[in-house]
Amino acid sequence: MTKKSIYLIGFMGAGKTSIGKVLGEKSGLPVIDTDERFEEYSGVPIKNYFEQFGEERFREKETEILLNLTDTPSIITTGGGIILKEKNRKFLKESGRVVFLECKPEVFLERLKDDLTRPLLKNKSVEEIKDMYEKRLPLYLDSASFTIDTSDLTIEEAAEKIISRM
Ligand code: S3P
Repeated sequence: MTKKSIYLIGFMGAGKTSIGKVLGEKSGLPVIDTDERFEEYSGVPIKNYFEQFGEERFREKETEILLNLTDTPSIITTGGGIILKEKNRKFLKESGRVVFLECKPEVFLERLKDDLTRPLLKNKSVEEIKDMYEKRLPLYLDSASFTIDTSDLTIEEAAEKIISRM
């Protein structure tokens, strides 16, 4: 098992948060979720923050949170757009093992279909969401140490697969 932090990246609905929790239990490492940190620090749910301040302000704060995380080896689960900033991609590559949780659009769309909390999905068509995923895909791949396709895996199976690669 690596002594470095493990960062989970991937699109909304790929299973980052759920898989991160199981990874934490199996590895004994603390789990930190950047979205949760964001809400603790800003005192506002992300959905409301987007409405009040917009995406750019969210991205700036999200970057601040990522760049100031603990040096203690941890499992770090990230927001789906963390890879949008070049600074973040550079930081990820330099800071630990980065696992891209890939997921087929039909699977994440099914998982997200009743989601009312993710601001970036609001009023978006399936085509627009797929398009967002396609645009991000090269950025996830560029940041990752390795990729695991979670489309047909249980949370437990995905966590086991990650551990076997550490
Ligand atoms: C976002 C994903 C969300 C959250 C915010 C923006 C994105 O996190 O950070 O709503 O840009 O993909 P999850 O990937 O955990 O849903």
